[in-house]
Amino acid sequence: MITLALSKGRIFDETLPLLRAAGIELLEDPEKSRKLILPTSQAQLRVLVVRATDVPTYVQYGGADLGITGRDTLIEHAADWDGSTSAAGLYQPLDLQIAACRISVAVRADFDYASAVRQGSRLKVATKYVAIAREFFAAKGVHVDLIKLYGSMELAPLTGLADAIVDLVSTGNTLRANDLVEVEHIMDISARLVVNQAALKLKKAPMRALIDAFAGAVGRVGVPS
Ligand code: PRP
Repeated sequence: MITLALSKGRIFDETLPLLRAAGIELLEDPEKSRKLILPTSQAQLRVLVVRATDVPTYVQYGGADLGITGRDTLIEHAADWDGSTSAAGLYQPLDLQIAACRISVAVRADFDYASAVRQGSRLKVATKYVAIAREFFAAKGVHVDLIKLYGSMELAPLTGLADAIVDLVSTGNTLRANDLVEVEHIMDISARLVVNQAALKLKKAPMRALIDAFAGAVGRVGVPS
């Protein structure tokens, strides 16, 4: 049996066409089912439905053989795990080219970010991407006080909690709706296939076949975001 960890939400919606292109159908609709282990059209493949931030943990410890998760999540996981910003013990064989977005710095439209950064004053930054934000501002030589949030980051500059946020931007609609503007582009993000290294050795043939099926599907689907 091979176990693939997925999370619901943005990445999941774009993963389904990719799974189909790789010849895999889920036999139950995860939006309707309360089950967390779902069978697929391939008898030897099952899907775990986990929280996005838990995908690297399941794959790292072998609770799942493979997983699909964002590059952002992998970087933050590695930083929590061993302080590095490369993915801890996880083999990343494929950029799936889905769920493309970016991580950016955003501020209120009336906030003078350029001056704040130039003057060398401390910037209050709210984010759930603490490692990415820390590394980015350290490289720029900007002193920051990081405030960890778990969602609705856009509220932080609007309420005075922070001067700036570091967050995912896809269409930019959320920023626009909250009168925030993007002032720095930190990195591009997309979903990655991550693999447990022991599983790759122990279940070599079926794991390789699955990775190859995903690789073929990436070329064919080329899902735009
Ligand atoms: C992300 C991010 C923004 C939004 C950006 O949240 O935190 O709020 O998407 O997308 P847009 O540029 O297309 O408006 P997500 O929906 O992933 O949920 P989250 O709040 O749980 O991170």
